[in-house]
Amino acid sequence: MTPIRIVVPTGALVVLIGPSGSGKTTFATRHFPRTHVLSSDEMRAIVADDPNDQSATEAAFELLHTALGLRLAARRTTVVDATNVERWARGRLLAIARRASRPALAIVLDLPLDLCLERNTRRPDPRPAPAIRRQQRWMQGALATLEEEGFQPAWWLRTPDEVDAVEVVAGG
Ligand code: GTP
Ligand code: MG
Repeated sequence: MTPIRIVVPTGALVVLIGPSGSGKTTFATRHFPRTHVLSSDEMRAIVADDPNDQSATEAAFELLHTALGLRLAARRTTVVDATNVERWARGRLLAIARRASRPALAIVLDLPLDLCLERNTRRPDPRPAPAIRRQQRWMQGALATLEEEGFQPAWWLRTPDEVDAVEVVAGG
């Protein structure tokens, strides 16, 4: 398959979008230095000692948004590794990028639902299947709106081959 080149300008916000099990953390680890990635699970671990403690979500995102604002103000490329399937959640990230006058791009991992569910069952800490189905549905709602929301551009990856074909290129 021909490579899919995703150019990431220096200091951009990169928002990963996809249900649990779609491979966001794997993708981020493969393509970006560790310090560029802010993950909601890691923020939960920082505030609550447990990456899966959903009661820590509000504090975790407060921390994530603060770190994102500080990084973008310093023109440091930052990847947000969270499901980001709800428009309001993406809106908060975009507002932070706008305040810092930084560009924002989206990468959607829209893999087949059955693949996400199957990968999920193989994890040591599987998420509830209904939550994954719901996230998948919400993600579909983003298809028509990502560019009008402010993501320039939005990449929509639909198969494991497409995900494997991605090359991230640091731009100027
Ligand atoms: P959440 O953190 O729950 O939202 O999930 P996530 O989107 O970060 O998914 P993650 O990267 O943790 O991947 C879920 C499972 O799928 C893991 O067991 C990965 O090893 C597997 N996986 C992710 N990406 C790939 C891939 O490109 N190929 C294969 N074979 N497995 C993958
Ligand atoms: Mg993850």
